Amino acid sequence: MLFYGFLAMNIGTPLSPSATRVMLLGSGELGKEVIIALQRLGVETIAVDRYANAPGHQVAHRTHVIAMTDAVALKRLIEQERPHIIVPEIEAIATEALVELEERRVAEVIPTARATMLTMNREGIRRLAAETLKLPTSTYRFAASEQELTAAIVGDARSKGIGFPCVVKPTISSSGKGQSVVRSKDELAAAWQYAESAARVRGSRVIVEGWIPFDYEITLLTVRAQNASGDIETHYCDPIGHVQVNGDYVESWQPQPMSDVALAKAREIAAKITAELGGRGVFGVELFVKGDDVWFSEVSPRPHDTGMVTMCTQPQDEFELHARAILGLPVDTRLAAIGASAVIYGQVEARGVRFENVADALAVPSSDLRLFGKPDAYRKRRMGVALATGRDVAQARERAKKCASRITPRAA
Ligand SMILES: Nc1ncnc2c1ncn2[C@@H]1O[C@H](COP(=O)(O)OP(=O)(O)O)[C@@H](O)[C@H]1O
Ligand SMILES: [Mg+2]
Repeated sequence: MLFYGFLAMNIGTPLSPSATRVMLLGSGELGKEVIIALQRLGVETIAVDRYANAPGHQVAHRTHVIAMTDAVALKRLIEQERPHIIVPEIEAIATEALVELEERRVAEVIPTARATMLTMNREGIRRLAAETLKLPTSTYRFAASEQELTAAIVGDARSKGIGFPCVVKPTISSSGKGQSVVRSKDELAAAWQYAESAARVRGSRVIVEGWIPFDYEITLLTVRAQNASGDIETHYCDPIGHVQVNGDYVESWQPQPMSDVALAKAREIAAKITAELGGRGVFGVELFVKGDDVWFSEVSPRPHDTGMVTMCTQPQDEFELHARAILGLPVDTRLAAIGASAVIYGQVEARGVRFENVADALAVPSSDLRLFGKPDAYRKRRMGVALATGRDVAQARERAKKCASRITPRAA
């Protein structure tokens, strides 16, 4: 809570001794939008990523390229830049360094160093949600070898297994990397191999989750922000529906229609998990819904990729909400329009692609576009997003998809 009162009242002048300095750890498309929102409020921004010319680098006051998983390098950079606030944008960070810096009160970590540590590992957040907070989740078990994985799924003398179908995921991974659905014993070895190959750390653990046959899944963007009297209040955006292919988001829309009962349960789960993680900022609470039943899946202690739709639906999108909450300013989560987003993939493997047919794409009524400016494209890399509003979700989705499909990346 170091800079809390100070920041609520004051924002300095960038590039001067009074500057309010915020460092983004990870500067992808989400970080880029957070930086733009902070820039608009007169904050000095420092963008860090593991490669040069990352999207957020292109809009920040200063940029750095380091391995953020290297605790020594990370601490050295933070001591050098002396940010007031550190905003992790990705999970692959030496979070133990953040815990130490927060304890020494070098900088404030958003939302908290503990939250970034717990959520970078599926085991930390799942045990907290299911065992400590007793939130409804899928059944789950952890395994550290193919043998343990087999036992976890088919069972052994000690316990009944998770059964089929189930989902196997590396405990440290994101965007569906290394994740597979296992439908029978035959698919087990391949699932283990795939998880091992994609895990960031060799020999790391996997989680096996029982399959949830949900009707739909949502991201409930939940904001912890300070009110006029300095207390933290929890705000909710309208639920965002989305479609995932192989664990990666391809389309999202807002609002996702829900029953009153399911919405109330979703908010209750979001309130509990975000209160436990604490701090200020936006959280993306991922939930599965079937009828009136709601299960907690996972949570990002930061804006969420599916939440890019808020750039066309909310007067304050998830990035502005995050910037405001970080700075101790009031937030407004109101929905102003029905909208949708559709991902634009690289489609080719090339450096410095050209996007063709941009004018055609934007000829789709009520559409908009973000091209992230990533230096290298690969087939499945997210290079941009199409946005569109509509009279209903179906129309908005159709427009966003049409806009995205018209963009053609070509090797330059
Ligand atoms: N237990 C499950 N039951 C059904 N679908 C699941 C389950 N776990 C994951 N999925 C599907 O895979 C997607 C990605 O899984 P998630 O745990 O969110 O991984 P990531 O951290 O890579 O986003 C989910 O959004 C959902 O569509
Ligand atoms: Mg997810």
